[in-house]
Amino acid sequence: MKGLFITLEGLDGAGKSTHLAWLESHFKAQGRAVVMTREPGGTPLGEHLRALVLSEAMHPETEALVMFAARCEHLAQVIRPALARGEVVISDRFTDASFAYQGGGRGIALERLEQLETWVHGDLQPDLTLLFDLPEAVAQARMQGRGEADRFEREKMAFHGRVRAAYLARAARFPQRIRVLDGSLGVEAVAAQVARLVVAL
Ligand code: TYD
Repeated sequence: MKGLFITLEGLDGAGKSTHLAWLESHFKAQGRAVVMTREPGGTPLGEHLRALVLSEAMHPETEALVMFAARCEHLAQVIRPALARGEVVISDRFTDASFAYQGGGRGIALERLEQLETWVHGDLQPDLTLLFDLPEAVAQARMQGRGEADRFEREKMAFHGRVRAAYLARAARFPQRIRVLDGSLGVEAVAAQVARLVVAL
């Protein structure tokens, strides 16, 4: 059976995590082996890099390079081997997050990020990306009271607005791969949208 690579994207507070569990049980019910993973992270080294990048201030280009360094390890240790075994890999964020946060949010040039993308996984893209879209103010309101905010979550509203815009620009560029869902709807309505997109796979 052919491997399947699915990624979930969106602003912090967009509700991705609610749908990760549903996706896992959906594919397991089909008898498929499923690998649930996340970025930055997904490997022991990647989780160290995640802890650093979510807490330590650093130059924006360093930040972009750390994201891709963690991703390189993730691809080598987890994603590529699982896809080669024909498994379903579901990742909470992947490279579109770098275009949104480091590109849109921090202002790193698209060409720079494209160079890194080509270097690290020029041969591989997700089969499907679900982008949970919603206004940044709604996302921020949902984040209230969720515990201590990380370095990205603490950014001001304008940053999150740029992240959202960059995600939508990326979706407009790759409309076949990236499907935009209305994350401002209730969980049930969004879950129905997710199910519609995934049964077609
Ligand atoms: P997230 O998984 O949303 O963390 P949690 O749900 O545990 O709070 O992601 C962590 C942060 O990392 C998120 O704010 C987005 C950011 N990020 C980037 O800036 N660039 C990237 O390439 C990736 C994968 C994530």
